[in-house]
Amino acid sequence: MAENLESLFHGFSKLSREERLARLKSMSHLSGDDLDTLKAPLDLDLAEHFVENLIGVFSLPLGLATYFRIDGRDVPVPMAIEETSVIAACSSTAKWIRSHEGGEILTSAEGHTIIGQVQFPHVQATDKVLERIRVHQEELLEIANSVVPGLVKRGGGVRAFKVRRLERPDGREMLVLHVYMDPCDAMGANLINQVCEAIKPHLALWTEEKVGLCILSNLVDSKITHATVRIPGVDKEIGKGIEEASIFAETDPYRAATHNKGVMNGIDPVLIATGNDWRAVEAGVHAYCTRNGRYEPVTKWRMEENALVGRFSAPVVVGTVGGVTKLHPTAQICLRILGVKHAEDLARIVAAVGLVQNLGALRALSTVGIVKGHMSLHATNLAIAAGARPSEMVALREGLLGTLKREKTITMSRARELLDILRGVNTEAR
Ligand code: MEV
Repeated sequence: MAENLESLFHGFSKLSREERLARLKSMSHLSGDDLDTLKAPLDLDLAEHFVENLIGVFSLPLGLATYFRIDGRDVPVPMAIEETSVIAACSSTAKWIRSHEGGEILTSAEGHTIIGQVQFPHVQATDKVLERIRVHQEELLEIANSVVPGLVKRGGGVRAFKVRRLERPDGREMLVLHVYMDPCDAMGANLINQVCEAIKPHLALWTEEKVGLCILSNLVDSKITHATVRIPGVDKEIGKGIEEASIFAETDPYRAATHNKGVMNGIDPVLIATGNDWRAVEAGVHAYCTRNGRYEPVTKWRMEENALVGRFSAPVVVGTVGGVTKLHPTAQICLRILGVKHAEDLARIVAAVGLVQNLGALRALSTVGIVKGHMSLHATNLAIAAGARPSEMVALREGLLGTLKREKTITMSRARELLDILRGVNTEAR
């Protein structure tokens, strides 16, 4: 799907759902079966394989963010999310970027290995442990890679080890062996956990020390994804406002938390849509944001000459094979809509969407505020929650938007009142 998708994106939000699906089918590589899958809930028998004690499935809306051009390629972005206005904000911000001459979203990746940890909780003789691990290094590598022969065949596998020395609260020493493994297109959690557990008895034997936990680390600072947005000729006042919003987050962790929540508003829905472990990415991103000793924003924005430039750098460890990504039919379709095969390509898109979502939030916050965009869509939610029937939706929504204009706020009780008025209910007689 390297073609220009302007005609897929154009007016997409104005189409009916059926028209959107038909357009998606005609423009991309989806079949009629795929469209049926998108519309149907997850099969209960399949869901039974995912979790224990299954009692049902929990559905989320799946929408398509439009107008993304990432590294020169138009990318329709499926997003699974319940939060009103995220997809709309993402699409309009991506459109705003490309509306500027030279406006671009570029991404890159640095490092290939994920990290597994094997812990030595109370070390009796540090020098001896370090020496034994050094002596057995080659053997350790061989044993580790024998656990993942399929991965080794695909060009991945364990690459290196490193020992970290940590001080325990009681002043004694703890050692942690880091195992660096290239998982290729897998997220790699199961693979690296198996490797760590397999080398545990050997390490215990060689070092004559007690070995503790064996588990991956989500702070994957050995595999970083970068995204950059550059908007030359941006309106100076808007650019400065976004830079100031960034400085606020760089200065104040309370603001950084909300700033980063906005970034994750873009990231999590793509992870969910593609069957990826969004908790792992959340944990990794937030931990990475503390690497300088305090919690910082994961993105930074500056005016550089006449261009607004934003940068995102963090671990975004995802997979395009294995696990739910492989088993969930909707995840498979979403990967095809995105046009990605490799995990690195997906991670780069995910980072770009997070950065663009953040830009949308900062642009709104530093100009008209967030309420305007949120509230008009919120009116629809209030109308549904107030119990409006489909035939009453349009009128109630309009009534709520009128109220918002006059009174600057709308609430559930106001929605109920308006619905009563619409139905001709005498509220005073109640
Ligand atoms: C709301 O879901 C996200 C924002 O609060 C993000 C931000 O403040 O940057 C709007």
